[in-house]
Amino acid sequence: IQVDDFDLVIFGATGDLARRKILPALFRRHAAGQFPPDARIIGAARSPLDDAAFRKDVAAAIAEFDPPRAQSPELPGFLERLSYIAIDAGGDAGWPDLAARMRKGVVQAFYLSVAPSLFGDIARRLADHSVAGADARIVAEKPFGRDLDTARALNRTLVRHFAEAQIYRIDHYLGKETVQNLMAVRFANMLFEPLWNALYIDHVQITVAETVGVAGRGAYYDHAGAMRDMVQNHLMQLVCLIAMEPPWHFDPDAVRDEKLKVIRALEPVAPADVVRGQYAAGAAPSYAQDVDNPHSRTESFVALKLRIANWRWQGVPFYLRTGKRLLERSSEIAVVFREPPHSIFDDSAGHKANQLVIRLQPNEGINLKVMIKEPGPGGMRLVEVPLDMSFAEALGPEGADMPDAYERLITDVIRGNQTLFMRGDEVEAAWAWIDPIIASWENGSARPEPYQPGSSGPDEALALMHRDGRRWREIRA
Ligand code: BG6
Repeated sequence: IQVDDFDLVIFGATGDLARRKILPALFRRHAAGQFPPDARIIGAARSPLDDAAFRKDVAAAIAEFDPPRAQSPELPGFLERLSYIAIDAGGDAGWPDLAARMRKGVVQAFYLSVAPSLFGDIARRLADHSVAGADARIVAEKPFGRDLDTARALNRTLVRHFAEAQIYRIDHYLGKETVQNLMAVRFANMLFEPLWNALYIDHVQITVAETVGVAGRGAYYDHAGAMRDMVQNHLMQLVCLIAMEPPWHFDPDAVRDEKLKVIRALEPVAPADVVRGQYAAGAAPSYAQDVDNPHSRTESFVALKLRIANWRWQGVPFYLRTGKRLLERSSEIAVVFREPPHSIFDDSAGHKANQLVIRLQPNEGINLKVMIKEPGPGGMRLVEVPLDMSFAEALGPEGADMPDAYERLITDVIRGNQTLFMRGDEVEAAWAWIDPIIASWENGSARPEPYQPGSSGPDEALALMHRDGRRWREIRA
């Protein structure tokens, strides 16, 4: 279904995120026939390019980041939609020209794919130069602040010029098909929700493991670390979707109200319940070498145990871990159920707790581990088998061809649907919970634990579970 006609302006259009994700995603939606004929995409950045040079750069970006589509017959038509404007976020050059280019009566969206320090300047000039109409949408990329104070300041700056209903704060995890599937699995089936609480669930574990390091992004990453880069946003969103109460409707504020309640109910984390790690040198350079800072105390790995203080989750720990240069690129959520209250079988029959594993990437799917009788005449022995459903197998080619998160999110902006975007209060609540954890590190002198590249993180992270008599699932792609 085509979206309404639009003018989309991308600030930072020659930057890494725009080239890697935003423009290739727009091209895919164009190729899928989702854009009306007149819809336009305007690149805005500092470099003095003309339209032709920008189009050439976008074609190069698609060749680099979406090679199978580089030769697509749809590409020339997509490039036709593009134009470029050299603009100075902190000055007045280019703004009147941009104002003159914007059409009235179509959806106007302004994508801020720039450093957050420029959000204020851009928002103000959009207003001062009357570039943005009354219904214009603003898309803000992460990092949305680096603590509660900076996030509040950013929110204040944006709401000075735009209403909350116009602001789309991106967390690209919410655009992932499998992440949205969490809501479908929970709220479109009778099977899980009645068991989805402290009576039946022993614990939840969430792993977002990456194999990449941080080389090339050191300047940003060394000031952020895994806690700010991944936990405050992506992992927190996963916790919310697992833990929230059913919203009354799949509607932006209904969903976001429920997520906010989860974040507000998070208990402060005890220092002993957090493990920081930093990758050592292996075949590739160490973290400190990658960021060119031999004394860095920034974490490239974090594992922690959190608790949610409400009726549903009383006493159920959520274990989270994420890190760079781990064994595999693999993200999953495992909901581990309690053992049956009484076993009618001998202890020797063998028994394991049920697990519902939701694989986010790669090989997206759902795996429910159940116990059955081991075949054979030798009495009752139990064996764990997977009810394993890969989306690609279950849904055929369409299931295998998952749209990129950005495709979904950008079309939602054009459609005016904020359900998969973070509200200002949600972002602030997440920082309010994260801040004390980071402050305790910054006030202390401890260093992150070193871990071997290609491992599953520091041993201390394993111990975090072992001392509770539990264990992490293996990191496997
Ligand atoms: C980004 C982080 O938000 O998410 C990166 O800044 C991280 O450090 C990336 O690598 C992971 O995203 P994905 O989609 O590859 O899981």
